[in-house]
Amino acid sequence: MKFNRQVMNLDEFTIQDLKNYPGATGQLSGLLRDIGLAAKRVNVEVNKAGIADILGEAGKTNVQGEAVKKLDEFANDQIINSLASSIYCAGVASEENDTFISFNDEYSMNSKYVVLMDPLDGSGNIDVNVSIGTIFSVYRRLSPNGTPCTLEDFLQPGSQQIAAGYIIYGSSTMLVYATRRTLQGFTLDPSIGEFCLSHPDLKVPEDSDIFSVNMGYYHLYDEKVRNAVDLFMATDAKQKIYRHRFVGCMVAEIHRTLIQGGIFMYPAFGKYTNGRLRLCYECNPMSFIMEKAGGRSISAGNQRLLDVKPTELHERIPIFIGSAGMVTKVEEALR
Ligand code: AHG
Ligand code: MN
Ligand code: MN
Repeated sequence: MKFNRQVMNLDEFTIQDLKNYPGATGQLSGLLRDIGLAAKRVNVEVNKAGIADILGEAGKTNVQGEAVKKLDEFANDQIINSLASSIYCAGVASEENDTFISFNDEYSMNSKYVVLMDPLDGSGNIDVNVSIGTIFSVYRRLSPNGTPCTLEDFLQPGSQQIAAGYIIYGSSTMLVYATRRTLQGFTLDPSIGEFCLSHPDLKVPEDSDIFSVNMGYYHLYDEKVRNAVDLFMATDAKQKIYRHRFVGCMVAEIHRTLIQGGIFMYPAFGKYTNGRLRLCYECNPMSFIMEKAGGRSISAGNQRLLDVKPTELHERIPIFIGSAGMVTKVEEALR
């Protein structure tokens, strides 16, 4: 097999990119590389989940009251350990933990970034060999360097993100991340164990024919949301025909949307009066990425999702995200 030296790996790319910005300290690049390494370790476990004893419920419930799968625990521990030993991360908040963790060794405490994450998204898909993912988000801490992190460091509006990304464990494993400047996609080349730049400068199509929402809850959505969903359901064959997709893993929905365009909606319904998805761990990072790709993301009341100030770590929020043209249509229906 011929080796393609034109394709940069994650380390090469972040180092090269750094050179474009004199004065940059390289801390964010270092943090992204550390997350990339943790992702590779999780990927190894994900790939052998079928034969290793890591399938099924771990017999506990997380702070959201949902069953924790063994792989969720593994991914959570793995990423937290990597961030703890990184010198670029002051603390982490995870969907799987009650509260944030401050790393209080000398190096960590003097670093300027905190990370929020959903270590394993779409965990209901593990047992059936369908795509799952990891989502992360990076903020500059508000508390002074050299002191332990505070809750306020983690409760910043999404517009304050420095970087955000996801890993999709799909038919291939990809790492996609956005900074304030760029949005890049890397595919894991298993033969060398490296993420290689495969999707440079991702842009989401302005319009598409794909919509994604859990239709099982249709009659539980309020009238405006039902009107928004109806926009995509042809009632006569002459109308534009949309294709409906729902994987049950936000990472997979967002990844498909970035590549093919479309809209992904997770509205409020029934007992989920704020929807199911979490503002800090899922919706903020995905909204940051989508906007960087030229798309849009709004919440209830047509508010730009990234402008919402979180009041608690685990809060949930309705989301309508994807191609700008389609989100704007939905926005009109929700008005
Ligand atoms: P998690 O596995 O981290 O709990 O997240 C799963 C989420 C999300 O990714 C997905 O869109 C949603 O749950 C699916 O829920 P429903 O099947 O109830 O729609
Ligand atoms: Mn999730
Ligand atoms: Mn999860």
